[in-house]
This record gives sequence, C-alpha cells and structure tokens, in this order.
Amino acid sequence: MAMNINKLIRQVQPPPITEVKSWLAGRSASAALPLLDLCQAVPNYPPEPGLISHLQKALDDPATYRYSPDEGLPDVRTDLCHWYQRHYQSAPQPDQICLTIGASQAFWLAMMCLCQPGDEVIVPLPAYFDHLMALQSYGVKPSYIPFDPDSSGLPDLAAIEQKITPRTRALLLVSPSNPTGATIPSQQLEQLLDLAQARSIVLILDETYNCFINDFSNSPPHQLFRHNNWQQHFVHVASFGKTFALTGLRCGALIGAMELIEQALKIQDSMVVCQPRPAQLALQYGCGHLDGWIEEKAQIMQQRHAAVTACFDTGIKGFELTASGSFFAWVKHPWVGLSGRQAARKLLDKAGIICLPGEAFGPGLEPYLRLAFGNIETGQMNELKLRLEGV
Ligand SMILES: Cc1ncc(COP(=O)(O)O)c(C=O)c1O
Repeated sequence: MAMNINKLIRQVQPPPITEVKSWLAGRSASAALPLLDLCQAVPNYPPEPGLISHLQKALDDPATYRYSPDEGLPDVRTDLCHWYQRHYQSAPQPDQICLTIGASQAFWLAMMCLCQPGDEVIVPLPAYFDHLMALQSYGVKPSYIPFDPDSSGLPDLAAIEQKITPRTRALLLVSPSNPTGATIPSQQLEQLLDLAQARSIVLILDETYNCFINDFSNSPPHQLFRHNNWQQHFVHVASFGKTFALTGLRCGALIGAMELIEQALKIQDSMVVCQPRPAQLALQYGCGHLDGWIEEKAQIMQQRHAAVTACFDTGIKGFELTASGSFFAWVKHPWVGLSGRQAARKLLDKAGIICLPGEAFGPGLEPYLRLAFGNIETGQMNELKLRLEGV
C-alpha cells in the first residue's frame, strides 16, 4: 500500500527543471550538438573575484560556522538597507528584514504568515512555477488571471480587481517576470499598491531579477518603500542569487512590516534557524563593493536581450516572441497540437536546445516555451536562431 502522503502535495507537479534535465540522460553524446542550455536561469559568469577571496578568508574563521540570529546579522541587514537606499532611493529598516534561504524561503514565510489553507492569492499567468507549487502544497488557491498575449506580460488592474473575493489575501507579482521578462512600470506598481490598500489585501512582489532592469543603477524599480504606510500592504521578496551570481549559496530576504517579520521568525526558527553565515557574508560584501559590477552585468544582460529580440524580429520559422526582458524570452512555438512539453522535447532532440514548457507556468500555457536567454552569451544568439530554424 502506498504511503499516506499529504494529498495536496501529491497533486503538485514535479519540479519542472528536474523533469526537463532528466531528458538529458537519454541523449547520446556523440550524435548531439553541444547543448544550448536555456533551462534553469543561472548567470553564466562567476561571482566577482573580490567576493570569492572575501569568502575564502571568512572560511578560516570559526565564527563563520556558527548560527547567526534568526533574522540575520545586524550589520548585514544594515548594509542591505544602505544598498536599498542607493538602488531604490528609499529603504526598509533593518528590523523589517529577515534574511532567508533564497527568495524561495522568503516566499514561503510570506505565504504562511499571510494565508491559511483555503484562502486565495491572485496570480496573473504565466506565473513562476515554484510559487504555484508552494501555494498548492500549502492548500492556498491560486486565483488565476489568464494570459493575454497582447499584454506584453504586464498585469491588468481591472482584471485583478475583479478577482478579489472575501477569501483573497494577496496579489502575487514578479517583476521583472519569470517567465515573460516583463518589468512592471513604477507607476503601475503604485496603482497596484493603492488597490491592495483599498481592498485590504497584500501586494507580494518578488523582485529576483531587479538588478537586470534597464538602468537599475540610476533609476529605482519603484518607490513603494516611500508609499504612505507601505508596510501594511506590501511585502518584498528578494533574491541575491542572480544579483551577485551566487545562486547556490541560497541568499534571499523577506522584507515587510516588523509585525510580519516577528511572526515569520517563528517559522524561520523552526524551519531553518537562519540564513547560513557564508551567504550573509557574501551578501554584505556584495552590498558594500559591487554596485559597479552589477551595472556591468546589467549591461551584458541588456546586450543579450537586444540580440535575442533582433533574432526574432527578422523571423524564426513560426516561433513568435510574445514577451521578453531581463533574463527571459516567452516564445510561442509553431506546433499547434503539441504541448509545451512535447515542443521542448523536440527542441532538445532535434536542436540540442533545452528550455521549459509553457504549462509549467500555469494551466493553458501549452503553446509557449520559456527560454532563459540570460544563460548564454550575446555571440551565441545567432546559433540559437539557426538551430530553431533548422528544427
Ligand atoms: C521569480 C523567482 N523567484 C524566486 C526564485 C528563487 O530564488 P532563490 O534562488 O533566491 O531562492 C527564482 C529563481 O529562479 C525566480 O525566478
């Protein structure tokens, strides 16, 4: 007899990146073109050398191996506030921050503090698959807003407003979006926070890819931290994995009302205790030294984005670039009748391209694929185009 495992979890899709990468096992190395890996979004460059040597030195210090306070070391959180002040021209206070094991854990903390099983969270499609998997595992109903291919991946305020019910606890947005790459303009975010305030829900905004926004170093992604009483209705989910190219260190933060953080620390304590110190030390170094490095990498990402859009602008045999930006291209594949999974498999078998199927990002998205173009060099975009044309 099968083990009696929580049914909510059984019904959740398996991790899509693991599934897609498992297809590689059957791929014969001799027949294969070198892989173009557009699957899991991971910057293809190493962390800045100064950050690596800083951590190397820290590993000689026995203090690095100890727990920190649950919310993170006070001076790391203070330095993070300064980083926000520089990049957002406004900042949370240190006691409005809990350092977490990536943005993934920050999202779980937010969801558990704000929702109970049976509640609803509004989720425009396509949505980041791990958010959907977390909501479904916990028994929160994602209240989907269908994808409008003409929207360039931007949310529709009226459609969001219509979805609010007495069970709605939050509106969940990702900007820049995974998977469409779309960045929500600052003014629209203001309106969305106004709506959240007016309707007593919370805007949860995941900004994992913020540093790749055009001109991040000079113009803030939004001014929500200045908004009157922002902390009552706004929760910011941060990841520094892509920012400082240290996805494996698992470095994120939950930022919100002190009251929310106090409650989140109960879960933090029982779940992980704290973000590991090496991640905190890397974050602190990054906040203090790497503004210029971030700017350089953002420019590289913009060149990659320009190159990928140029490829699609001149047409690629029925593939349509529906939305794009920052790290991702959201592409409609030409094979009517094939699911995204079947299309992705075909691209791997015939073109050595590995990418994610649209349906991983929510129901009804079989015609789409997500290409994490941020993984590859500008010079490889033409190769991508040639391979897509050759399928
Ligand atoms: C939108 C979004 N949120 C969160 C994460 C997870 O970030 P972390 O590695 O910091 O947990 C990712 C990773 O790809 C992401 O795309």
